[in-house]
Amino acid sequence: MTAVPLFTPIKLRDLTLRNRVGVSPMCQYSSKDGFATDWHLVHLGSRAAGGAGLIIMEMTDVAPDGRITEGCNGIWDDAHVEPLKRITAFVKEQGAAIGIQIAHAGRKASMSRPWEGGKRLLPGEGGWTVSAPSPIPFLPEHAPPHELSKDEVLRVKDAFVAGAKRAVKAGFQVIELHGAHGYLLHEFLSPLSNKRNDEYGGSEENRFRLLLSIAREIRADVPKDIVLGTRLSCTDWAEGGLTIADTTRLSAQLKKEGVDFIDCSSGFVTADAKVPFGPGFQVPFAKEIRDKAGIATAAVGMITEARQANDIVAKGEADMVFIARAMLRDAYWPIHAAIELGAEPDIPPQYLRGYEANKFAQPRKKAV
Ligand SMILES: Cc1cc2nc3c(=O)[nH]c(=O)nc-3n(C[C@H](O)[C@H](O)[C@H](O)COP(=O)(O)O)c2cc1C
Repeated sequence: MTAVPLFTPIKLRDLTLRNRVGVSPMCQYSSKDGFATDWHLVHLGSRAAGGAGLIIMEMTDVAPDGRITEGCNGIWDDAHVEPLKRITAFVKEQGAAIGIQIAHAGRKASMSRPWEGGKRLLPGEGGWTVSAPSPIPFLPEHAPPHELSKDEVLRVKDAFVAGAKRAVKAGFQVIELHGAHGYLLHEFLSPLSNKRNDEYGGSEENRFRLLLSIAREIRADVPKDIVLGTRLSCTDWAEGGLTIADTTRLSAQLKKEGVDFIDCSSGFVTADAKVPFGPGFQVPFAKEIRDKAGIATAAVGMITEARQANDIVAKGEADMVFIARAMLRDAYWPIHAAIELGAEPDIPPQYLRGYEANKFAQPRKKAV
């Protein structure tokens, strides 16, 4: 059998992923007081059984006011670790590696769940005060966020570091910092949302300071084998916002701080962005950062087909491909893609009977 690039293993530090297909982080709005539930076990567990190489658990917030909704997952309390352990153990048993995206929603916090309208929750409706680098609301109808003081910025940094240490205790192998989509860390990076005039705003060096210092402290505080990634909005798609040239420079600095891969997304810091959505529209960012910053990248966004995903890896445009909505439609996307591409699918032994007619059906390989 000739090697199929999407299904060749990749090594990140000491962690070997069985293939290059990742489940992109996706909020489930199904946590209670930040605690993961059986929903997460089933949702992430199914996708591990479905053959993904890496699963990144949803945006998981390092402070209660950093949640988008009250259903968001949390890691601000030691007590959050226990239910996560069950999930990480099950995912690993299925041969997938397990990661977690740690985050703070910044000025985009205090909303109702998407299926409850996705609207701003006012304090009287169970909402809370939102914080940001500068008192500029995302949309004019939102209340201006509280401008974080320097002490509060340092507390946010400490909360990320504490969250990362809890993630290690919970059994996660990969920690991804959420530096994208207009949430707090991206709000510091982008000149559109950061109008501060202290050492966390103004120049590029100042705007990048918070994310870089969080990466540095986490790298120093977690075991060497923990893989550290960062999701970036590689461009803001808006006049005066971040460009791919900016985020390429940032990626090179993150690499120096010990970050192992960049997950290349884009946009969502301003409602005025003009985004050319289309199949694989963010892939060029993964290639540019991979080529120019010399760091491993994941491509994400409107990648739905097996051949499309395989070509991205085959052409050296990215090291991994992360898939979100197509994985919601089909938890077995990786097994189905492997069969379509003529690679050996990693089918759970319990399900082999469903594939008996398939010449590639093999007993599964040893867990990672
Ligand atoms: C239900 C849902 C929840 C999401 N939650 C997150 C999240 O927690 N963190 C994040 O960085 N992106 C999140 N995203 C964005 C996805 O990770 C992904 O970047 C985006 O959907 C584009 O990929 P796709 O075209 O394969 O869906 C979410 C997307 C969906 C559909």
